[in-house]
Amino acid sequence: MPFDGLHIGHYILLRSIGSGGMGEVYLAEDPRIHRQVAIKVVRTEASAYPHDDSTKDAQRLFLREARAIARLDHPHILPLFDCGEETVNGTMLTYLVMPFRPEGSLTRWLEQRNSELLSLTDVVQIVRQAASALQYAHDQQIIHQDVKPSNFLMRANNERPHLPDVVLADFGVARLSSATSSVSHSIRGTPTYMAPEQWSGEPVPATDQYALAVMTYELLTGHPPFQGAPMRMMYLHTNTPPQPPSSVNPSLPKEVDTVLLTALAKNPQERFLSIAAFARALESAGPCNSGYQQKRSPERHNPYLESGWRTTGNDFCSGRSLRRSHNPS
Ligand SMILES: Nc1ncnc2c1ncn2[C@@H]1O[C@H](COP(=O)(O)OP(=O)(O)OP(=O)(O)O)[C@@H](O)[C@H]1O
Ligand SMILES: [Mg+2]
Repeated sequence: MPFDGLHIGHYILLRSIGSGGMGEVYLAEDPRIHRQVAIKVVRTEASAYPHDDSTKDAQRLFLREARAIARLDHPHILPLFDCGEETVNGTMLTYLVMPFRPEGSLTRWLEQRNSELLSLTDVVQIVRQAASALQYAHDQQIIHQDVKPSNFLMRANNERPHLPDVVLADFGVARLSSATSSVSHSIRGTPTYMAPEQWSGEPVPATDQYALAVMTYELLTGHPPFQGAPMRMMYLHTNTPPQPPSSVNPSLPKEVDTVLLTALAKNPQERFLSIAAFARALESAGPCNSGYQQKRSPERHNPYLESGWRTTGNDFCSGRSLRRSHNPS
């Protein structure tokens, strides 16, 4: 059911911007202050059966998204202006109000580049901002669980016209570490970006590092490491080592292979100790740096783990979120 023209809360829905696994996003206006905003409304098919388990599940997820976002205050995280619930034609709608980013998503921005790959320097910049947002969320015990290009919105940066900033949206599948066990057994995410432990419903902060590494791989080579139907993807993410990115894009330094393959380790404990450490290692592997020098902890299994190293120098697959619950409650 199209909601264009509908009044919801204080807002007037103007037109649909797009839809995803959880609902539909509209450009809307707040007529009180003449401000354009983006409003995410829970998918209407589910809301047609307000007492259905899946509807209740979607509404619970939606409000959890609202609470998770409301706690976050970071320059690279899209803030939450407002949220609410409203009954329209007998159907309960739940909505989130966010800043409208006219520049659109990273996916769209990349599409507009006609498949021209970004430089390693620009990818390092995007990853630095993304990792800073995610490290902040992890420090608040929030795991995003759906890190992918369509969930980053672009924000023009006047000081760097060729490369806008990124802001992370869609904490819809975020799982608070303190969440109850009934929620923790859900499988949520987008298959192209999902770490092995996410497929088994046991996400950890390093799950976001894996997804950001998939996205980084995609930015640097033009393709994510694994493609295919969801079940095939589950097999590949769980069992198959990814090709080194330099085998797809030979201009990449070998150090980048090591960093990405570390962040893409099947076992989350073999990845970097934090997503910030992953971003730092990628930066150190970048074109401005000559390499790494081991400083201490040579006994560590993984040589790129945060405490052991320092630098010596200064699709796109538009995958949809998967929402499958083992234990809907
Ligand atoms: N605040 C916003 N400003 C501008 N565009 C937005 C905003 N929020 C979302 N969008 C765009 O709306 C579209 C739908 O977003 P939505 O989050 O529902 O789905 P998705 O991210 O594409 O997929 P999924 O639900 O699987 O994460 C996307 O193209 C997204 O870039
Ligand atoms: Mg999204």
